[in-house]
Amino acid sequence: MSDSILKHVRPSLHDLKPYIPGKPIADVQRELGLADVIKLASNENPIGPSKKAQTAIQAALTELNRYPDGGQLFLKSNLSAFHNVGEDMLLIGNGSDEIISLFCTTFVEPGDEIVVPSPSFSEYKFAASLMAGRTVEVPLGENFEYNLEDFKQAITDRTRIVFLCSPNNPTGTYIRQADLERFLQEIPQDILVIIDEAYNEYVEADDYAQGLELFRKGYNVAVMRTFSKLYALASLRIGYTIAKPEIIGYVNRVREPFNVNHLAQVAAVAALHDAEHIAESRKVNSQGKRMLYEGFEKMGLRYIPTETNFILVDTGVDSKALFQALLRKGVIVRDGGFFGLPTWIRVSFGLPEENIRFLTALEETLQDMKVEA
Ligand SMILES: Cc1ncc(COP(=O)(O)O)c(C=O)c1O
Repeated sequence: MSDSILKHVRPSLHDLKPYIPGKPIADVQRELGLADVIKLASNENPIGPSKKAQTAIQAALTELNRYPDGGQLFLKSNLSAFHNVGEDMLLIGNGSDEIISLFCTTFVEPGDEIVVPSPSFSEYKFAASLMAGRTVEVPLGENFEYNLEDFKQAITDRTRIVFLCSPNNPTGTYIRQADLERFLQEIPQDILVIIDEAYNEYVEADDYAQGLELFRKGYNVAVMRTFSKLYALASLRIGYTIAKPEIIGYVNRVREPFNVNHLAQVAAVAALHDAEHIAESRKVNSQGKRMLYEGFEKMGLRYIPTETNFILVDTGVDSKALFQALLRKGVIVRDGGFFGLPTWIRVSFGLPEENIRFLTALEETLQDMKVEA
């Protein structure tokens, strides 16, 4: 290809690195010749999708020749009743990933800033970089706790969006209601605060800041939720945000007309109302959390208490080597090196038998690595 074309690539893309997702099961099976592989790397729901969602998809298959409802009216009316918010306060996205990009496309001009926690979900920085925006990273505390005073200090007159991920990926830590409300009162009122609540439905802590309550009080927040985690529809790509109608109106201008496919829309409605699947998902998750807490305590490993469906644990060894060794045992986790934490791994809670297999593989591997060292 002629260099003359490449010189027109937008300079802001030169340093952009593509997202590296959790390793798929099929890749590990093929690369390592393993038949039995478990994946605890992408914070997916291990019990599988809701049967009701599967039935809704079956029924919708005969309509695949039609474009999806671009206004997502059926889903919006269900979400509107579920959360008691106006339909004009909702925007549905092709996963919350897309919504993060849509917000940055709407609000970030070259040189504008977003403020994000560190470590946190990488898509915020990615989306801002696409718009030639600058990302200001605010380190979390020693135990990865939020200190919103630090976020306040990071705000400048170029700040357009503050992304708060609560509970946070990859740490599982969360923001307390009183802290978030004070923060919202103290920051300039022309800054949008996006609260990414991808793991909201797993939270057990009483003092967790519910973004929707603060939204209802009139603060400038956009609350993001997803159907990828507790609702177990990661493959279909569907998430949503709740914000003031004026904000939604602008973000809607940059949205593709048919951004969310029909199967995702009907499955989301079914999953939203599948109380049995929701209860089972929460039960299996709490069980998994207890199993891993206990397992790590027995091994003497430091972990961060979590309000999500995953946990961050300090293994004390090189996480890249540990990741590879666990792969060879057919267990996929997330290497903390990706988040700048080179001795930590992030592990999603699985089914009970998967959790046992992971803990056994971890214990054996750590022993082997210590013998070798
Ligand atoms: C904090 C956070 N936000 C958003 C997402 C993306 O969700 P979705 O699948 O809806 O794009 C994830 C996925 O891991 C996440 O951890």
